[in-house]
Amino acid sequence: MDRSSAVTASEPTATALPPGPGLPMPVQSALFLLARDRYLPWCRRRYGNVFTVRMMGRAPMVVLSDAEHMKRVFSGPANVFHAGEGNEFLRPLLGENSLLTMDEDAHRRARRMLMPAFNGAALRRYAETVATIAGEQVPRWPTGRITALHPWLQALTLEVILQVVFGVTDERRLDRMRPLVRKVTDIGPVTFFSALMPRLRAYPPARAVWQAAEELDRLLYAEIAERRAAADLEQRADVLSMMLRAGEGADGLSDQELRDELITLVLAGHETTATGLAWTFHELARNPRVRELAAEAAERGDDDYLEAVFKEALRMRPVVYAVARKLTEDTDVAGYRIPAGSIVSPSIGLPHRDARRFDRPEVFDPDRFASGQPSSTDWLPFGGGIRRCIGAGFSIMEAVAILRTALRELDFRPDRRRVEPAKGRGVVLVPLRGARLQLRRRYNAASRSRNVSSPIEPSSSA
Ligand code: HEM
Repeated sequence: MDRSSAVTASEPTATALPPGPGLPMPVQSALFLLARDRYLPWCRRRYGNVFTVRMMGRAPMVVLSDAEHMKRVFSGPANVFHAGEGNEFLRPLLGENSLLTMDEDAHRRARRMLMPAFNGAALRRYAETVATIAGEQVPRWPTGRITALHPWLQALTLEVILQVVFGVTDERRLDRMRPLVRKVTDIGPVTFFSALMPRLRAYPPARAVWQAAEELDRLLYAEIAERRAAADLEQRADVLSMMLRAGEGADGLSDQELRDELITLVLAGHETTATGLAWTFHELARNPRVRELAAEAAERGDDDYLEAVFKEALRMRPVVYAVARKLTEDTDVAGYRIPAGSIVSPSIGLPHRDARRFDRPEVFDPDRFASGQPSSTDWLPFGGGIRRCIGAGFSIMEAVAILRTALRELDFRPDRRRVEPAKGRGVVLVPLRGARLQLRRRYNAASRSRNVSSPIEPSSSA
C-alpha cells in the first residue's frame, strides 16, 4: 500500500515507518545481502512503492521506487540526507577523507577537487590508455572452452585503475600493487567484519587484509611523493596527476587526502565496472541479434551503439541495486514522517524492471537508448543527485573501449539456456557462476591479436 497519495508531506507530525515484512532480522539480512534482486521485488508486490526492511546492525531501511519520492531524496538538502554516514563501515579502510564516507561541506570540497579528473576532456585523454590495455589483455582470454569471464574482466579493470587512475607505470611497482589491491578491495565477510571490529584485525585471516592495506599505503605514498616532484606533471593524463593539478595552491589535497581518494576510486570503480561488463557479455551471448549488431558496430567504430549495449545491460542487471541516505532529522518522505537515524533508499533495480517505465522490461534491447536517455528516476544505475557516481562517464568510456576490442576479436555464446542468477557480493550483484560463456575467436581476428610477454592472471575471487 502506498499512502503517499492520501497524505501530503506537511500533514503527518508523529514519526512512522512504512509497513514491511515481519520476517526475523537475520532472515531479512540474509535475503537482502544475497538475493536483494528477488527480495525487494517481492516486498514491492506485497507492500507497494514504499516499504521498510530491517537488517541486523543497520537502521531501518525505507525502500522507495516511485519517481516523485526518489526525486525528493535526490534533490533533498545535503545536511538532511547523508550518504557518507551510510558508508561509515568503510572508514577504517578508506580513511577519514573519502568521497564515499564524507558529507556536506567536506564532501562538496572533495568533489570539487576530483571533478576535473572526470570531465569529458579528461575522459578522452584516458580512452587511449584503456584501449591499449584492452588490446593487450583480450587476446589472452581463453577460447574454445567454457570460461568464467568475470575474473578476466576484474583483471582488466584492475589494470585500468592502476595505470589510468593511479598513473603507475613502473613495472616493479605495478607487480607489487596488483595482489595488494585485490586483497584490500575484495570486500567479503572477513574485511567487512574486521572493519567493524578492530580487534579481529590482529588475527588471521583478517590480519593479511590489513597488512596488505598498510603495504599498499606505503606504495601509494611513494607514488604521490614522486608525482608531486615529477617534471612532467602538467602533461600527464592520469587521475592522480589531474587531482594534483586541480589542487595546486593553498586549498590542495594533502597526501593523506590523496591516498584516501585513490583507495576510494579503486574500491568504487574496479569491481563495479568489471561486473557491469560481465553482465553485458552474458546478455550479448544470450541475444544473437544484438550480438551481431554489436559486433558490426565494433567493426565500424560505432561507439554509440556499444554505449547503448552497456547502458541496457546496466538497466537489466543493475550492479548496485539501491542507494542509501541516512536522515539527520525527522523528514517527510513518501507520505510518512520518517524518524531521524533511519535510512531512505531509492531503489535502482525496481524502476529498471517496471513495465510502466520500460516497454517489455524483460527484453534486452539497446535501442531503448538510441533516441536519448530515459529520465533520471527511471534509469539510474549510477544513483542520483549530488552523490551520483563520479565515475559514471569513466566507466562508460572504459566499457565501450573493452567491448570494441572484445567484439572485434571474439564471439560469445552462452554455456546453457538458463539465465545466470545474481548473487550479492558486498554492495554489488555479480553473476552467480562468474558469467560462464564460450568464447570463440572470430575468423578475421588473428591478425589483430598482439602477444604480450608478462601475462596478468585474473583474480580468483569472482
Ligand atoms: C558500472 C560501473 C559503476 C557503477 C554501476 C557505479 C555505481 C555507483 C553508485 C550507485 C554510486 C552511489 C550513488 C548514490 O549514492 O546516489 C556510486 C558512487 C561512486 N562511484 Fe561509482 N559506479 C561505477 C563505476 C565507478 C568508477 C569507474 C569510479 C571511479 C573510477 C566510481 C567512483 C565512485 C565514487 C567515488 C562514488 C561516490 C560519489 C559521491 O559520494 O560523491 N564508480 N557509484
